[in-house]
Amino acid sequence: MAGKIITIAQHKGGAGKTTIAAQLAAAFMKRGWRVATIDADPQGSLTMWSVTRNHRLADANTLTHVQATSWQVRREAERLSQENDIVIIDSPPHADSEASVAIRCADIVLVPAQPSALDIWAVKPTVNLILREGKQGVVVMNRVVARSKLNEMICDKVAMLDIPALSQCFGNRVAYATSIIQGLGAVESEPYSPAALEVQALMAEVCIRTGLKKQPREKKAA
Ligand SMILES: Nc1ncnc2c1ncn2[C@@H]1O[C@H](COP(=O)(O)OP(=O)(O)OP(=O)(O)O)[C@@H](O)[C@H]1O
Ligand SMILES: [Mg+2]
Repeated sequence: MAGKIITIAQHKGGAGKTTIAAQLAAAFMKRGWRVATIDADPQGSLTMWSVTRNHRLADANTLTHVQATSWQVRREAERLSQENDIVIIDSPPHADSEASVAIRCADIVLVPAQPSALDIWAVKPTVNLILREGKQGVVVMNRVVARSKLNEMICDKVAMLDIPALSQCFGNRVAYATSIIQGLGAVESEPYSPAALEVQALMAEVCIRTGLKKQPREKKAA
């Protein structure tokens, strides 16, 4: 059976697409799933993370990573989903056609948004693409500050979107950025940190929504 394809998309730049892609990839690998990532963003940030990871972990790195232009994304996603349990696609900002291709192949689309009205309003074009493609989309609130009055106000705005939000969000945490510099995820660099717990909880929600429950299979290090 083909693996699940998770696309991270959001037209707005800097929302946290690459951060979530890398953190989730690391968490799935740590659980023993076979994981591939596709960097569909010419900025190549996820590719830099993967190169750093390769340098750091060498033979212990089980991640398969490719960088793909928009016309290659679908083919690569289908190919990699035959050999992996999970394929995560990081898509570029401000790019309708590239985002459409990445969304079209997905089993689930995660849409990161930061807790501000401007960010929630900016989600609309991505939501429209998801609905047009008939895909399952969910908002992932990112850089949420605990116990802020703003959170309640934002919840109302999120509830008015045409896709639901995951109940788990990511806090505004240094551990996300510091793990990425090292080519790791927070689950690897700081396994007992709040960041690691958040990523694991987010992963569990994604598993439920995509029906990922079989036992992970072995993957040899690349
Ligand atoms: N939860 C978080 N806590 C702390 N910093 C974060 C968090 N999420 C993202 N960041 C930081 O915000 C910046 C933008 O994040 P990221 O590159 O993941 O966004 P993006 O949506 O992929 O951006 P782009 O649209 O340019 O591809 C980065 O410096 C990243 O380290
Ligand atoms: Mg990015």
